[in-house]
Amino acid sequence: MPSNKINMAVNGQAVSAEVDSRTLLAQFLREDLKLTGTHVGCDTSQCGACTVHIDGRPVKSCTIFAVQLEGAEVTTIEGVAEGGALHPMQAAFKEEHGLQCGFCTPGMVMMGLDIAKRHGGAPTEGDIRNELEGNLCRCTGYHNIVKAIAAGAKAMAG
Ligand code: FES
Ligand code: FES
Repeated sequence: MPSNKINMAVNGQAVSAEVDSRTLLAQFLREDLKLTGTHVGCDTSQCGACTVHIDGRPVKSCTIFAVQLEGAEVTTIEGVAEGGALHPMQAAFKEEHGLQCGFCTPGMVMMGLDIAKRHGGAPTEGDIRNELEGNLCRCTGYHNIVKAIAAGAKAMAG
């Protein structure tokens, strides 16, 4: 099987690996690096459970091959907590009951962080609902997820 050497940073740590050219980033993170916080809910680019940040932007990790990530900086949900404490966006999901089964939550948090970054401390409900178009949740009805992202963005803005 063709193998490619890749080098990237994942959650601030340098990673070098040999990967097959067909290996998806989601697969590489979960199977090779054992970072199973990135979930695979559909494999067809619809659910957003696999969202990570690549060079600071949210990307569905089932839509990109690991070999495309040479030199990239990848952040997964495992890299979000700060010094063992929940990141304010994670804490907001807990406080606002923004999850039930939790399957969609890693992707929702990664997307929430990006929404907070781009809309500052005050994304509107409409902004948040619009931005979450690519993240599906089968449990919550979204209401508390929207509240959690609004609260997390506010906390991040200080
Ligand atoms: Fe990537 Fe669903 S697993 S979008
Ligand atoms: Fe279950 Fe969202 S909390 S899929």
